[in-house]
Amino acid sequence: MIDKIKEIQEMMEGELAGAVSNEQLGELKVKYLGKKGLITDLSKSLGKMAPEDRPRMGQLVNELRVTLDGALEQKSRELAAAAEAARLAAETLDVTLPGKATKLGTKHPLTLVVDQIKDIFLGMGYMIEEGPQVELDYYNFERLNLPADHPARDMQDSFYIDAQRLLRSQTSPVQARTMDRVCPQTPIKIISPGAVYRRDDDATHSPMFHQVEGLVVDEGISLADLKGTLLNFVRQMFGEDREIRLRPSFFPFTEPSVEVDISCMLCGGEGCRTCKDTGWIEILGAGVVHPRVLEMSGYDPEKVTGFAFGFGVERIAMLKYGIDDLRVMFENDVRFLQKF
Ligand code: PHE
Repeated sequence: MIDKIKEIQEMMEGELAGAVSNEQLGELKVKYLGKKGLITDLSKSLGKMAPEDRPRMGQLVNELRVTLDGALEQKSRELAAAAEAARLAAETLDVTLPGKATKLGTKHPLTLVVDQIKDIFLGMGYMIEEGPQVELDYYNFERLNLPADHPARDMQDSFYIDAQRLLRSQTSPVQARTMDRVCPQTPIKIISPGAVYRRDDDATHSPMFHQVEGLVVDEGISLADLKGTLLNFVRQMFGEDREIRLRPSFFPFTEPSVEVDISCMLCGGEGCRTCKDTGWIEILGAGVVHPRVLEMSGYDPEKVTGFAFGFGVERIAMLKYGIDDLRVMFENDVRFLQKF
C-alpha cells in the first residue's frame, strides 16, 4: 500500500509539473480525485485492509489528497499570472506618441467682420439693434418714404411672402422700428447688422447677404457728423491712411443722399484692377434722414435731425481679405474657411 501511495504521488507530481493549461489541471483533478480517481480508489481500498493498518494508511491517503488539492490551486494561480504577463508583453502602448487633436472650428469671415464693425461702433457709443428678417412691406418700404407706386422700389427686387410681407431687402426698416420705439426720446445712436434678401445672383451678388444699418438722431446732427463718423470707421477698418469722398446720390429716405467711396487700399489711389483705375472704391450709401421719415415716427424735424448709412458686410469682407468671388462665402468649403 505504501508503495502504491508513493507511486501515485510521484506520477502526480510529474504530471502536475508538466501541466500548461487550466484544462489539463481539470483533467488531473478528475484523474486523481474524481469518482473513479486514483486517490479515490485508494480510499476505497482502505476498507479491505487490516483494521490496525487503516488509521495510518488513511492518514497517508488523506495527506496525498490535501497535497494535490493545494498543488492544483497553486498551479492554477501560476498559469493565470503567466497568461497576464504574456498579454501585457504582447500589448504595445507607446505613451510618448502625440495624441489625436480635436479640430477646432474658426469664425466665418463674415462673423469676423461683423464682430469688428460692432467693436468699432460700440467704441463710438452706439447700441446694437435687431429687426425681423420677415418684414412688413410697411416698414421695408412705406415707412422709408417709398409708397406702393414709388419707382425706387425697383432698385430692390424683393421676395414677397404675401401682399403685406416680404424678406426684407435692406436693414433700413430697423430705422423706423427703432424710432417708433424710443420716440420722443433722443439721442438715438444705433447700428443694426443682419441678413437681407434680394433677387440677385452672380459673382458679386447673392440672394441673401448682410448689411449693417446705422442711425443717429439728435438735435443738431448734420452731414458733417456723418462724414466724421464714417471717416473714423473706415480708418479703423481699412487703415489710418484711408480717405473718403462723398458723391451725390438718391435714396427716398435720406435728403441729401450720398454714396461714400474710400481711397483704394491696394494701390493707395493710383489706380488698379480692384478700384477699376479710379483710385476709389464705393462702399456704402448714406444721407441725412428725410424729414418725412422722422415725422412718421413722431419726431419734429424742426427740432431733431439725423443721419443714416447702410453697407454690405460681404463687400467689406471681400475688400478686407481680397476675396474676388462672393459665392465662396456661402459654399462652406473648409479649405476657404480655414484661412481665417
Ligand atoms: N438701405 C440702402 C440700401 O440698401 C442703404 C442706405 C441706408 C442708404 C441708409 C441711406 C441710408 O441700398
